[in-house]
Amino acid sequence: MAKKVLVTGGAGYIGSHTVVELIRAGYEPLILDDYRNSDPSVIQRLKQIIGKEPEHVVCDVCDQNKINEVFQTFDISGVIHFAAYKAVGESVENPLKYYSNNISGLNSILTVIKRNPQIPFVFSSSCTVYGEPSGIKEVDEKTERAIPTSPYGYTKWLGEQIIEDLFTSQGDLKMMSLRYFNPIGAHESGIIGELPVGKPNNLLPFITQTAAGLHNELTIFGNDYPTHDGTCIRDYIHVVDLAEAHVKAIDYLFAQQKGCNEIINIGTGKGTSVLDLVKTFERENNIKLNYAFGPRRSGDVIEIYANVDYALSLINWKAKKDIKDAVKDAWNWEKSIRHLK
Ligand code: WQD
Repeated sequence: MAKKVLVTGGAGYIGSHTVVELIRAGYEPLILDDYRNSDPSVIQRLKQIIGKEPEHVVCDVCDQNKINEVFQTFDISGVIHFAAYKAVGESVENPLKYYSNNISGLNSILTVIKRNPQIPFVFSSSCTVYGEPSGIKEVDEKTERAIPTSPYGYTKWLGEQIIEDLFTSQGDLKMMSLRYFNPIGAHESGIIGELPVGKPNNLLPFITQTAAGLHNELTIFGNDYPTHDGTCIRDYIHVVDLAEAHVKAIDYLFAQQKGCNEIINIGTGKGTSVLDLVKTFERENNIKLNYAFGPRRSGDVIEIYANVDYALSLINWKAKKDIKDAVKDAWNWEKSIRHLK
């Protein structure tokens, strides 16, 4: 009997790609989503990829009673918790939206996990917990969590702290936090991908929308940074690699006989500048992109990328795709949703 894995936020960008990989790995995902930050059409899109409609339940992850009911109704063996707001800029403008949703949502799931220590729990964390790692560019999991540069980053920082404190109080829980770097790209089918609500905050969706004619030009926020080309450097990881990392994480936790609380960087281990990503997009898709340099964006970290040794040694995971794959898959997805040739 396939193990049922609850995927909160499973209709979202990373969640939907993880649903595909969970099925490929022989799990039975149960999507829990209230579509506040995703599109219900994802369910039918997933059916096109996996050949059947994934099981799904509409539920606000902050509704403790409804969450209790979901665990009573379905025989859930594991949980991957994505459901949270994740726009850095928006979190600065609307911090309470982030603190109430991201923290209470985590709390309501952990309340059930505490009562069911046999259910492994994977948490969607973020490299934003490293803040601006002064002087350190390649961060490993021993790098101190720093003061995040946004309320969004604080909800991930606090999320890890809540999990750590819970584990200290109850050592038989099996938990893992995955610190994502910069997720980009889309499923190779072009059927699922990133569907930003409104104007995208993130770089690659803004690039693909500019190439599709939705914006006149991309503004590159700052070209006077102390990097090889003056633009910020990030670790861009293909969303399908990221999805596979979640399968490896839940595999690992199911195999544990005793409690654990692990934290792992999920990146490629390589830094790419904004300008490098733009040029790779142009070259791989044979497109000339309109862009101009503008002022720096507040809160931006100059340079950060992952040390990924621990992911390989603990869960035997390593990124297989690179930014060339990601920019092609992202453009393929943009063309499919804009009905472009
Ligand atoms: C990347 C670079 C911008 C848009 C993301 C996620 C966050 C977390 C960490 C998972 C920066 C520049 C962007 C534009 C630009 N991931 N840029 N013009 O800020 O690293 O954060 O990764 O938890 O959720 O948001 O990503 O894509 O916004 O910016 O020049 O129009 O691209 O200044 O240097 P960021 P981003």
